[in-house]
Amino acid sequence: MAASVKTPEAAVARIAFRASDVVISVQPSLGGASLYSPTLEELAASSNNKEIVVARQNADPLLSVYTPLRAGKLVSVTTTSSTLISSIPHLYKLINHPVVIHVSMQPSEYPDYSQITSIRQSGLTFLQSESTQEAQDIAIAAHALARKSGKAVVHFFSGEQQEVSAEDETLLERTLEAPAPPTEEASDSIYADDGKRATKHEIGDIPTSSSAISSGLVSPAPEAAQSGTASSAGSSTVDDKSSRPSLSSASSVQVPIVTRDVTSEDIYNYIEGIFKTIKESTGRSYSVFEYSGPSNAQLALFVFGSTAGLLRTTIEKNPSEYEKVGVVTARLYRPWFGTKLSSAIPSSVSKIAVLEQLHRQTTKWGPVFTDILTCFRANAGAQGAPSVVAHKLGYINADTVDQALRGVVQNLRSPSPVQNLAVGLETVPQKEPAPVQPGLEKAYFKILDQLFGNRLHVANSVDKPNAGVSTNVAASPEFGYGSLLARLERRKEFIQKVEKLAKSNEFTTQIPAQWLSRWLLVADDEAKSAAITEELLPRLYADGSPAAYSLIADKSLFPKESPWLIGSDAWAYDLGNSGVHHVIASGKNINMLIIDSQPYSEKSAADATRRKKDIGLYAMNFGNAYVASVAVYSSYTQVLHAMIEADKFDGPSVVLAYLPYNTEDESPLTVMQETKKAVDLGYWPLYRYDPYGEEKGGVNFQLESERIKQELKQFLDRENHLTQLIKRHPTLAANLSHSYGTEVRQQQKRTAKDAFNKLLEGLSGPPLTILFASDGGNAEGLAKKLERRGKARGLKTLALPMDEYPIEDLNNEENIVFITATAGQGEFPQNGLAFWQAVKDSTDLDLASVHFSVFGLGDSHYWPRKQDKIYYNKPAKDLYKRLADLGGNLLAEIGLGDDQDPDGYQTGYSAWEPQLWKALGVDKVDGLPDEPAPITNEDIKIESNFLRGTIAESLEDDSTGAISASDAQLTKFHGTYMQDDRDLREERKAQGLEPAYSFMIRCRLPGGVATPDQWIKMDDLANTYGNNTLKLTTRQTFQFHGIIKRNLKASMRAINRALMTTIAACGDVNRNVMCSSLPTQSTLHAEVQAIAQKVSDHLLPSTTAYHEIWLADDNDKKVQVAGNAVVDHEPLYGPTYLPRKFKITIAVPPHNDTDVYAHDIGLIAIKGEDGHLAGFNVLVGGGMGVTHNNKKTYPRTGSMFGFVPTADTHIVCEKIMLVQRDHGDRKNRKHARLKYTVDDMGVDVYREKVEELLGWKFQPARPFHFDSNVDTYGWLKDENGKNHFTLFIENGRVEDTPDFQMKTGLRHIAKVHKGEFRLTGNQHLILSNVDDADLQEMKDLLAKYKLDNLQFTGLRLSSSACVAFPTCGLAMAESERYLPKLIDKVETVLEESGLRHDSIVMRMTGCPNGCARPWLAEIAFVGKAYGAYNMYLGGGYHGQRLNKLFKSSIKEEEILEIVRGLFGRYAKEREEGERFGDFCIRVGVIKPTTEGKYFHEDVAEEDAEEEEE
Ligand SMILES: Cc1cc2nc3c(=O)[nH]c(=O)nc-3n(C[C@H](O)[C@H](O)[C@H](O)COP(=O)(O)O)c2cc1C
Ligand code: SF4
Repeated sequence: MAASVKTPEAAVARIAFRASDVVISVQPSLGGASLYSPTLEELAASSNNKEIVVARQNADPLLSVYTPLRAGKLVSVTTTSSTLISSIPHLYKLINHPVVIHVSMQPSEYPDYSQITSIRQSGLTFLQSESTQEAQDIAIAAHALARKSGKAVVHFFSGEQQEVSAEDETLLERTLEAPAPPTEEASDSIYADDGKRATKHEIGDIPTSSSAISSGLVSPAPEAAQSGTASSAGSSTVDDKSSRPSLSSASSVQVPIVTRDVTSEDIYNYIEGIFKTIKESTGRSYSVFEYSGPSNAQLALFVFGSTAGLLRTTIEKNPSEYEKVGVVTARLYRPWFGTKLSSAIPSSVSKIAVLEQLHRQTTKWGPVFTDILTCFRANAGAQGAPSVVAHKLGYINADTVDQALRGVVQNLRSPSPVQNLAVGLETVPQKEPAPVQPGLEKAYFKILDQLFGNRLHVANSVDKPNAGVSTNVAASPEFGYGSLLARLERRKEFIQKVEKLAKSNEFTTQIPAQWLSRWLLVADDEAKSAAITEELLPRLYADGSPAAYSLIADKSLFPKESPWLIGSDAWAYDLGNSGVHHVIASGKNINMLIIDSQPYSEKSAADATRRKKDIGLYAMNFGNAYVASVAVYSSYTQVLHAMIEADKFDGPSVVLAYLPYNTEDESPLTVMQETKKAVDLGYWPLYRYDPYGEEKGGVNFQLESERIKQELKQFLDRENHLTQLIKRHPTLAANLSHSYGTEVRQQQKRTAKDAFNKLLEGLSGPPLTILFASDGGNAEGLAKKLERRGKARGLKTLALPMDEYPIEDLNNEENIVFITATAGQGEFPQNGLAFWQAVKDSTDLDLASVHFSVFGLGDSHYWPRKQDKIYYNKPAKDLYKRLADLGGNLLAEIGLGDDQDPDGYQTGYSAWEPQLWKALGVDKVDGLPDEPAPITNEDIKIESNFLRGTIAESLEDDSTGAISASDAQLTKFHGTYMQDDRDLREERKAQGLEPAYSFMIRCRLPGGVATPDQWIKMDDLANTYGNNTLKLTTRQTFQFHGIIKRNLKASMRAINRALMTTIAACGDVNRNVMCSSLPTQSTLHAEVQAIAQKVSDHLLPSTTAYHEIWLADDNDKKVQVAGNAVVDHEPLYGPTYLPRKFKITIAVPPHNDTDVYAHDIGLIAIKGEDGHLAGFNVLVGGGMGVTHNNKKTYPRTGSMFGFVPTADTHIVCEKIMLVQRDHGDRKNRKHARLKYTVDDMGVDVYREKVEELLGWKFQPARPFHFDSNVDTYGWLKDENGKNHFTLFIENGRVEDTPDFQMKTGLRHIAKVHKGEFRLTGNQHLILSNVDDADLQEMKDLLAKYKLDNLQFTGLRLSSSACVAFPTCGLAMAESERYLPKLIDKVETVLEESGLRHDSIVMRMTGCPNGCARPWLAEIAFVGKAYGAYNMYLGGGYHGQRLNKLFKSSIKEEEILEIVRGLFGRYAKEREEGERFGDFCIRVGVIKPTTEGKYFHEDVAEEDAEEEEE
């Protein structure tokens, strides 16, 4: 049974889909459906040989037509009338292509037909329909006509919705069977039609006999043979592009074939034929002109548009009133067959009313009226041609039609009818839908707004009311440009007027004239003119004269505006036609912000005809414009600079702003990742260009990203700036000459492999190639081991990552072994992904002569659920199967290593390797050499000469952004980690580039106390060398990310100049000492803080390497000499330092804001009876680091050793550290922390060893009490009367965003603040020691920058996350970038449960290393794989108890479901004052973890599984 169709758009979409290969579906936004889209999507889902191309309404959608057209595809477009006018440049180029453009007239209730009449001269064919049924039939007719004529057809429609049956199959087949006319050769130009004409082939002079056709000598034109029309009998489909008559060589009988253009007459014949077919199939008749009414009518109404139906029914309902009145419409509007009109209407008609929409009339007579007039004029002489009376048709509907009709008929009936009588409503009662402005783009508007405030004038704003102009037009650049010109002109006139008035005596007093003269001096200065306006206006009001009021009437012209035009990248397709060209060429002081939203990843897949011009280059070449290329998600500060400079620049400015997205509701994280790729790889370079920069004493071109693209380079070459540029950016030269692309990558692989092969030629045994894929290094380690062992057995072994291997060699391998780990959820590790894709998809691999084996590394418990067992070692299994399928021969059965086995993957490997040797016949080799032990961190330390290694040399090497692997271990001791941007890893690899290396620098800031001056210096550093953000860490210090190697030294110096250091901020040494931030007890804080500083200083390494490497400059001979002469000595550490990192913290009860239980040493401050610090209770053996699924690793809370007096504290810490130095495990880094030493040794034994070194015993611990481990937000007063404000800094990230200028605000505060800043262990910030006198100023500043906002849920205020992606190399999942979003979602649950204000400690980390101390949280999420987390419950509210695994590897949906259930229960069932962590334990959701070593016991999930089994 045929389906039914309800709307004209649905009916049309169905036909378009079925009659075309490609449908260009124009949508208001990528995410916003059109009326056609649901139907198109539904059809596309069930068919895979059709293509739907979604094009954004304001991104030049018709441009997408060319590529499929050129590929010989049948193309149609589904759109609304709002795209028509802006598509004019395309329309006339499409004339001679068989494209069908279906146009739904808008606004739907009162369609605006002037959109059609204004493009009537474009040469296209126009068909019209008025209801769902008609739309269906006419859509079919349109496609049939396009096919037959080879010409573009516009089918426009609107009107009634009705339910009709879906199109008739046979009708569709019959009408569409005409093949598409031959397309002429594709041209390379964007304009696919260059010189193309639709042609028709005819047989020339020799009359064709039907026998010639039937003999097959000449094939009949299908339309002639099949559609039943006789008009073009004798056509031939012989493909002859000549326009002159020519002879066909295809025929043995010489028949001349004439090729001529398709004429209007042909179109007429085709359409009549098509209408005939439709009639035969459906009984519904259509014709070029359609008349309805009595055959003896005297009056006829020619109606253009969908009102015809309304008029017809009204006439039918009142036959008496409208006697002898008929209605005529044009079904085919262009070509215009005026001569046919007179035969369509009864000859009795003496007057015709032309009803035409004229609400945007520019000429006296409307276009349709002129059309009609010409019909009768041609026939005028013949007989009494009817007189034609024009009517202005306003908007009418069922309620108003009667009145309108009556007006028209009365007018016609009068002896001398009035011309241009208006009927219907003049204005549209309903607003046209405005173009959608994607929410993401608001980021840039906000910045403009912030910068220019009232001065900002956006000429083509979507939101602004523009009287009398449709929003679509108002948003167009051309409109905006015009209105800006007018505005500039107006201001010029205004200034002249002021000049005149200032000299006149027209004011009541002299005052206005004086102020106006002052204003005139600064009228062109943005800031000053605005300032003076404030003063001036009240004086004009006070003056009260008519002259004063005449100026007041134009008061908005006093301040000089910042005029902006905002455009999309659509402007870049056709620069000549766009506003861009006009603005630049005008030389006027107008600023343009052009937002480019094309995602980087899409650009290579992009349609070639949609290739955009580089507006930046275009504008720079013009030579008179300021140009900047910016990206808010890459550098916010640069956007600010660019906009300010553009505003100041006296001439046209173009700010190109990058904002890549696929759909308008894309998450900012995705946008940021796309932006990074584009900027990093030079697709979207960041720069600013001022053509007069040098004249102003600066530079013309300023590059702010590392890489630029070829075209830009050429421009700069020409500009002769490149040499200077390269001087300033030494790495640029290399980058510039780097050619990108996969061929390079291919070539690199080839050369590397060939070089290896050469090396191997010397070896005698059979070859063995080992390919590995490894993320964490296990698989790689095994592969290298196998390589060594193979070599020892005389095999020509070669191990390399799968992705480095040229796959074309695979067929020729003799023996090949694959070792792959398992990543993600059963996925290949990064360096094997591309290889696997190639093997999987290859059609020409034949491994008949190849011997292979596979060893996999996995974890059978990584995804613990039964249904997830398939992920266990999946890559290895998949690869094994695929290789066998490709005909490979087995060398040895697949081997599987499992992290869960007693020796981890080694267990499986030990069983597999011997089989391999056996198969290769080298299992019984004698005298194998001992294998060299792998280089360990201990080796690196001892070889390093007190942490020097080859760091200095590594820094000098500018061929790479990296430093050597062993130096990377050593630099940690200096406070810096090498990292690479993980968002960019894959893309850079694909481009054959090394990872985007940069460095993280961590300061040493005991107790987290910094001066305002230090704050400013840190802020400077982040801007100059870092990534414009500061991270306040869980160890109360500053951390910088994104510092590239060549800036590393300068950054270190800057930190030291700020009287801070980075030494021992990371590495196997005592790290930054923490201390409670204690806003309310400043005296105690000062005493405790002093101890933190003392302990920190006391345990500092003594090596001079730090100073030598980072601080000494080339002239600092003294240090060099000393460095060479004096042998370093480390009295506390010795040359191998500690086995692992070492952490100390101080907490002051009742605040456990530094998590005192989580550190190697935790000092609990005890206040004496005198109110001063008496000493500390000492906890030993806390620690957080864990490895997933390795039960030998666990978090631990510190064990109580007892009390020590203040004065001895630093010595006690030293001795505890020394016991660890000498007894910690130096073989296994996963077991090297103090916590394992304490457990292995026993708490008592460890304490005794410390006491032995001290020579005295710990006193019994003194009583203390903790309340919480979260910060106390807001203003607090301490006992000395000083004020402290604790700010909420979400996850410690200090940065500016368009919504929140946190970093700028804090910098402003730092400039005036007289106290100090305290960084808290929860990554927040305290503005400390504010005098009452300064309180108000601070409050105002906090309010100004919204820094005083603490209106967050208790959960958010108690949350914290580690850095994780993109910089942390160990991250398995997002953390800092994800936790806020997760909390957004959890908050709705909290609201539902009434828990908005309850503090619940929630923490997240990207891996189990535990940087944000997740194991102590009441609820924690620890990254397992991208998007998946282990969930832990039951931590103690004030950090006293570890939590326990509740669920493994769960994703957001499940997290939310669980959290919803738990919070719901907590809200209902909790006891008075009961904390969430305690509640989970009491109600049995989770068992308590009483001690670290029992962390893995009684885990919720395992129980469940055991029960199941
Ligand atoms: C993020 C992540 C995801 C993992 N996913 C799986 C998995 O789906 N299936 C599996 O068998 N093992 C999985 N594993 C376990 C690893 O394959 C295993 O630990 C292996 O030894 C790691 O080797 P590599 O260091 O060479 O990367 C995963 C490990 C990580 C870190
Ligand atoms: S917890 Fe893991 S992912 Fe997070 S910062 Fe630390 S090491 Fe990186």
